[in-house]
Amino acid sequence: MSEEVTSEAARRRTFAIISHPDAGKTTLTEKFLLYAGAITSGGAVKAHQGRRSATSDWMEMEQKRGISITSTALNFPYRGHELNLLDTPGHRDFSEDTYRVLSAVDAVVMVLDSAKGIEPQTLKLFEVCRSRNLPVITFLNKLDRPGLEPLELLDQIETQIKLRPTPVTWPVGSFGDLRGVIDRRTDVFTRFTRTARGSQIAPEEDVPAAQAAGDEGPAWTKSTEETELLSVMEANLDLPSFLAGESTPVFAGSALTNFGVRHLLDAIVDLAPAPSPRLDVDDNPRELDQPCSAFVFKVQANMDRNHRDRIAFARICSGKFDRGMVMACERTGKPFATKYASTVFGAERTTIDEAFPGDVVGLVNATGLNIGDTLFDEVGEPVQFPPLPQFAPEVFATARPIDTGKSKQFRKGLNQLNEEGVVQVLKDPDWGDASPVLAAVGQLQFDVFANRLEIEFNAPIELSSAPYQAIRLTDKESAEQLRGKVGVRILSRIDGRLVALFENKYALERIEQNEPELTLDHIIAG
Ligand code: G4P
Repeated sequence: MSEEVTSEAARRRTFAIISHPDAGKTTLTEKFLLYAGAITSGGAVKAHQGRRSATSDWMEMEQKRGISITSTALNFPYRGHELNLLDTPGHRDFSEDTYRVLSAVDAVVMVLDSAKGIEPQTLKLFEVCRSRNLPVITFLNKLDRPGLEPLELLDQIETQIKLRPTPVTWPVGSFGDLRGVIDRRTDVFTRFTRTARGSQIAPEEDVPAAQAAGDEGPAWTKSTEETELLSVMEANLDLPSFLAGESTPVFAGSALTNFGVRHLLDAIVDLAPAPSPRLDVDDNPRELDQPCSAFVFKVQANMDRNHRDRIAFARICSGKFDRGMVMACERTGKPFATKYASTVFGAERTTIDEAFPGDVVGLVNATGLNIGDTLFDEVGEPVQFPPLPQFAPEVFATARPIDTGKSKQFRKGLNQLNEEGVVQVLKDPDWGDASPVLAAVGQLQFDVFANRLEIEFNAPIELSSAPYQAIRLTDKESAEQLRGKVGVRILSRIDGRLVALFENKYALERIEQNEPELTLDHIIAG
C-alpha cells in the first residue's frame, strides 16, 4: 500500500499556468491536451471567440461553468505520468482565489506574451510565486510574430521578478518567421512545420547543427550567437535553484502554431517536482505514505444549475483516497462521507474512485466544508495543515438588495459567496444583514459578486463604494475603545472575528503610534 502511494505520487505533476490575460494561457492549455492525446484537435476547448475584455470574458465563463477551461483541475496522462493542471482564474487583478490555487500546486508555468513582456498587473502574481519559492518554468509565447527580443525578455524576468532565467530552448528565426527551437542541453535543433491554425500536432524534425547552419542561414547565425552569449553568462539550467524558486528554466515557442509546446510539456514531466510531504501547522511533514489527508483550496456552488450543489475541491496530500471512505474534517471534528467524488472535465463530471498525492478531488455536496479545511482519514493520525493565508482587502463597498422582497435570497447569497471566498462579508452587529460591507483585494471581485447574486440567487444588488482605506483584525476589548473614534467602524466577519475599518490611513497610523496597547493586527499573506 505505502509503496503504491509513493510510486503513484512520483508519477504526479501538479501545476498551474499563470499569465496576463491574452498571453496565451487558454491556447497553451489546449495544446497540452492535444500533445497529451486528451483531445484530438485544437479548437475543441476554446469557446471564446470575439472576446472583448478579460472581465466580461471571465464572467461569461463563470456563468457557463461548463466549459472545460474553467474546470478546476484538468487531469491527463502524458509519458507515463499523471498531469494535474489547476485552473487559475483569468482576470486582470491579482485575487485571492488565484493565490489559493497556487497553494495547491507544486510548480507553475509562467506564460509571457513576447510582444508585451511582463505587464504591471500580473507582476504581483509572479512576485507571489517568487516569494513562496514555487518552482517556475517560463514560456516565451507568440514568438511567431513580431515582439521584443528574447534577450530583452530575459532581462525583464531577471530585473522585475528577480528570478534568474536559464533558457533551455532558444528560438531560431523570429519576428514573423519562427523556424524552430534549439535545445541548449543537447544542441539539437528542432524544426517545426505549421499546421492549419495549429489544430494538429506540428510535424517536427531534428536537424544536426551543420545542416541547420546551411538551411537556416542568418536566422541560425543570430540564434547561435545568442546561445553562445547565454553560455558565457552561464545562464544554464540549474535544477537545485529552479526547485528552490530562484532560477527559472525558459522555453521558447508559439502556443498557436505548437512550436516548442512539446519541449515545454516534457519539461513539466522532467523538471517539475512530484508532490512532496506537506508541512502541518507545527511544521512536521505529513509523509506521502501516511494515511489519506487533503486540504480544501476551493469551494464552488451551483456548478450544475439543475442540482444546486456545492463542490469542495481538495488536494490530496498523503495516502490513497478511496471514494466512499469517511474522512474527518479537522475544523469541525465531523466525519465527511466521500461517496460523491468527481473530477470535472469540460461539462462532464467523472466519478473518481481513487486518488493519490497531488491529485484534486471534487467533493460533491460538501455543505460542511470550507476553504482551508484539512481532511484526514479517521483511522490514521489526525493532521492539521496551516490555514490558507488571506490577503488584506484593499477595496470596500456596501451592498443592499434592490428588491427588498428578495432579502432571503440576498442573505443566502452573502453567506455562500463569503464561504467561497469571492469577497469577505463584514456585518455591523447592530444592523445584521441589512447593509453589509464587502471587502476584497480587487474591484473585480465585487463585479463577480454582484453578478453571481443576480444570476444564481435572483437577488440583484446595488453596490456603492465605502470610504475605507484600511482594515485590521481586533478583539473585543480594543473594539470597545475604538468604537468611539472618528472615522473608525467596527464590524464582524462571518467567522465571528472583529475587524476595524479606517476611513483614513493616517488616522490609523496615529492610533497605532499613540495607543500601542490596542489590538490591530494585519491580515497578511503567510
Ligand atoms: P489567455 O487565455 O491567456 O487570455 O489567452 P488566449 O489563449 O485566449 O490567447 C489570446 C489570443 O492570443 C488569442 O487570439 C490567441 O489565438 C492568441 N495567441 C495565443 N498564443 C499565440 C501564439 O503563440 N501566437 C499568436 N500569434 N497568437 C497567439 P484571439 O484573436 O483573441 O482569439 P482567437 O480568435 O484566435 O481565438
